[in-house]
Amino acid sequence: MFPRTNPTNTAAWQALQAHAGQMKAVQMKELFAQDPQRFEQFSFRFEDILADFSKNRINQETLDHLVALAHECGLKEGIAALFDGDFINETEGRSVLHVALRNFSGQPMYSAGEDVMPQVQAVLQQMKGFCEQVHSGAWKGFTGKPIRYIVNIGIGGSDLGPLMVTEALKPYWVAGITPYFVSNVDATHIEETLKKVNAEETLFLVASKTFTTQETMTNALTARDWFLQSAGDAAHVAKHFVALSTNEKEVTKFGIDKANMFQFWDWVGGRYSLWSAIGLSIALTIGYENFEGLLKGAHASDLHFRNTAFAENLPVLMALIGIWYVNFFGAQSEAILPYDQYLHRFAAYFQQGNMESNGKSVDRNGEPVDYATGPVIWGEPGTNGQHAFYQLIHQGTVLIPCDFIAPAQSHNPTGDHHAKLLSNFFAQTEALMNGKGEEEVEQELLAQGKSAEDVAKLAPFKIFEGNRPTNSFLIKKITPYTLGQLIALYEHKIFVQGVIWNIYSFDQWGVELGKQLATKILPELVTEDTINSHDASTNGLINAYKAMR
Ligand code: F6P
Repeated sequence: MFPRTNPTNTAAWQALQAHAGQMKAVQMKELFAQDPQRFEQFSFRFEDILADFSKNRINQETLDHLVALAHECGLKEGIAALFDGDFINETEGRSVLHVALRNFSGQPMYSAGEDVMPQVQAVLQQMKGFCEQVHSGAWKGFTGKPIRYIVNIGIGGSDLGPLMVTEALKPYWVAGITPYFVSNVDATHIEETLKKVNAEETLFLVASKTFTTQETMTNALTARDWFLQSAGDAAHVAKHFVALSTNEKEVTKFGIDKANMFQFWDWVGGRYSLWSAIGLSIALTIGYENFEGLLKGAHASDLHFRNTAFAENLPVLMALIGIWYVNFFGAQSEAILPYDQYLHRFAAYFQQGNMESNGKSVDRNGEPVDYATGPVIWGEPGTNGQHAFYQLIHQGTVLIPCDFIAPAQSHNPTGDHHAKLLSNFFAQTEALMNGKGEEEVEQELLAQGKSAEDVAKLAPFKIFEGNRPTNSFLIKKITPYTLGQLIALYEHKIFVQGVIWNIYSFDQWGVELGKQLATKILPELVTEDTINSHDASTNGLINAYKAMR
């Protein structure tokens, strides 16, 4: 197991604090002016991914201190513990082995002394065989027709990953298969989805690690009732419902045949599970070979993460630069801005990835932390974001480090769309860094024929202070492989930050309280009684709801 170091007690943290004091006065554009090699120095190639960190408020000394921080906090030991299957998810007593799900090294990986690879491979084979049956039409619905619609019913990690990936890889969709994703317990979600499919050609994937999640089980039962209205005989359920879960007992109780269960294990965290049986909707949508391409890309990132020196290790650098802004510049959020419409759920996916993992305020010693941990993650695809919230990134009062992600090659090379898209990608990071000074603004206004008085009046609003940091990720093309690489890089970033912040990144106790209270409130909503068991506000709201419904 790795050390439980309070990062603020390290020499590197002290050095970073002093160094940040100096760097706050430094303009990035001056750093570029002083050093023609800055781009070469701070950008890194990893196969078809170019990661450019040069537009950050960093110099070599910054990175040296940050790397020293990683060493002092035991990151090397942390990475070893992750890959060795140590029970690093200590509060739940589990290994964290999503890396085993995409381990193509031929080497064993262990949890609790047992090599998990044979079971991983067995489930992959089961998924492959199932995809073949569905795609060839050999798997038939209750009227003898092949499957055309996949409805994944799951929430959180059992929804966001497959949804994000299937959207990102739409150009790879198998002809004749359309996937849908139902997550919200709001009946609107399932009802609107059911309008688009028919019972005889639909396969429901009930995706739930625990198979007890209220939203998923409610939606699954509604889907089952809807299905039986057409199919009649409960025996037909076997051809139309499969389960992706760790909980065989609950799966069987629900009425799904054990043979139609795709298993995964407690060492797969929900938000890290798209590589497991939870990825069946992905494999069915893009084909098993492409699903394997996704896994192989992630495996390449795992090898890079495990074997590359910290100073050149992409997820480590992503994490350290994040920490630099969160802990030394007071940044409270990070934006993820993909310049690729297909990646439109990427930020939402990593919202869960980061915020459920590192939204913690107690350290691994059980002590409250006295430093900031996980930032708020948000974002939308460019250029939509530019016409919505970029104003605040450019001229607001808060510092928002941004990740810009773009493919060099578009799957839709229509006209000059992609050149226009990419010109915006490049322009935004340039504008955020350089800003626009007073003199330039004044010259521009004078050139427009404004009077000296108008120039003086307007100039303050048109000045951009700039010096706003961005990371740029340029990817040759979004393929299953490069997407797998990219996702795994972001996953490992989260892990590195959790190690340095000395928090447990793989539990999520914070979501429990709301669930418990909802369970308590539900029966109160069914009665006609006036409710007075809560605080005045909650009682008032519940009673008003009952009067209004
Ligand atoms: O939101 C809490 C959570 O436990 C997530 O971590 C998880 O991804 C989601 O619920 C769904 O859980 P399950 O797959 O067990 O239905």
